[in-house]
Amino acid sequence: MALRRDEWLDLARKLDWSYSYVDEHAVFPDLVAGRPWLPHSAWEGFREPYRTAYSEYVATQHTKETVVHAVRAAVGKIDDFQRLDPQWLAALKLHAATLPLAEFAAVIGNLRAARFGRDSAWRTTALFGALDETRHTQIPLLLMHELVRWDRQFDWAHRFYHSNNWVAIAARHLMDELLLASDPIEFAVATNFVFETGFTNLQFVGLSALAHDVGDRMFETMVKSIQTDEARHAQIGPAVLATVVAHDRAYAQALLDKWFWRQWHLFAVVTGFAMDYLTPLAHRKASFKEFMQEWVIDQFARSLTEIGLEKPWYWNEFLASIDYYHHMVYASAYSYRATVWFDLALPGPGERAWLKDKYADSWDALDPIWARIAERWQIGGPELEWYVHGTTPVGFCNLCQLVLCGGTPAKNTARVVDAEGHRHIFCSEPCAWIFEQNRARYAGHRDVVKRILAGDAPANLLELLRTYFGVTPETWGKDVARGRYPWMEAR
Ligand SMILES: [Fe+2]
Ligand SMILES: [Fe+2]
Ligand SMILES: [Zn+2]
Repeated sequence: MALRRDEWLDLARKLDWSYSYVDEHAVFPDLVAGRPWLPHSAWEGFREPYRTAYSEYVATQHTKETVVHAVRAAVGKIDDFQRLDPQWLAALKLHAATLPLAEFAAVIGNLRAARFGRDSAWRTTALFGALDETRHTQIPLLLMHELVRWDRQFDWAHRFYHSNNWVAIAARHLMDELLLASDPIEFAVATNFVFETGFTNLQFVGLSALAHDVGDRMFETMVKSIQTDEARHAQIGPAVLATVVAHDRAYAQALLDKWFWRQWHLFAVVTGFAMDYLTPLAHRKASFKEFMQEWVIDQFARSLTEIGLEKPWYWNEFLASIDYYHHMVYASAYSYRATVWFDLALPGPGERAWLKDKYADSWDALDPIWARIAERWQIGGPELEWYVHGTTPVGFCNLCQLVLCGGTPAKNTARVVDAEGHRHIFCSEPCAWIFEQNRARYAGHRDVVKRILAGDAPANLLELLRTYFGVTPETWGKDVARGRYPWMEAR
């Protein structure tokens, strides 16, 4: 007679034992298992709210795969994508590049937890997480592969993390530390808690709703399918964090403060661009700020209180940056669009009115940038990309590796730190603080400017693009409309 599920499930998911011939420290060395190092008795309270067994996992995942493949068969062909707005396709290319191989790095982080996580139920959940992340790597690579022969910019779905493109340098700096170098405790706090409960709702709820509206059923299905997995393995976060808070609250808070800021910058770029600039105006519902307000600020702040942590010390600076940061980076990216692998849209009068309405406190300071850019297009005429493009290399933050865009157009928040004979510049106080917490880890990394000064990367912009950033005249970013906007010709 077969056992009932509840008779065997706990043995399958949570089975620990005492070591008779080896010390627990030797099985879980703190260097790889993480700190605080505590005996298993301190971790054995680990409970994941949604328990599952391997057989159930396989069955559920198979169903999800079937749905993705069915949608792909129905709307995943080149001509289905050709019907989409070019502006939205640019958002798709941005996501398609930054997502898949980061998910692949997350396989490694999960596998480390599947071996060195301190409780068996944690290890079991992390193993399912590793299988999830493998799927999250494969799905976008599969979907985008079809599109490469139509549009070479989609090739960046695979190329991106292997390149020295400045966005890739920034993304790797973050993802390598977050997903490859973290021990299972830091991974649980940074990835499972901050990333997968703090930020991915923004993607799931916000971006998939926009994709639906724009008519991109493939992207919508993919994001939703991925999110059902994220929601399951994200359970590791609060469960681990509860023990860390109980034994070393200051360390838990420091991890939170560090990772919230680092990930905020990533989301501001990837999701902020998509929501406020690359979604066609007719399909916009809420602004990036409104999505942030609802899904990150309100919900995440509540989950911090529940777990017994404070908001990060820079919370006011963070709130202020929601009005500016992604706008500043977008203006930089548009001005240097040939440095990236996707096109960028010039906000016209309609978009600028919408942005002014959504960003009442900051847009007046930002609007002159776009007035000036539009004026340049009007003087130069369509197709003359270089007339409306920056030519000298810009400065990068020595921590987040993104363009120095902190603060407002009137007052930047850059910080300079001199350490061991080297001068470092940071976009913001939190980036400088993160650097100071672990100088040895970060000080050796060279940003693009330092590579140019060392002679490892060319200073001439065109040379830099072709030989270092990996883009070609065919693939580098352009204005989505090549400067041909109806509103511009009408003037
Ligand atoms: Fe994932
Ligand atoms: Fe994940
Ligand atoms: Zn920075």
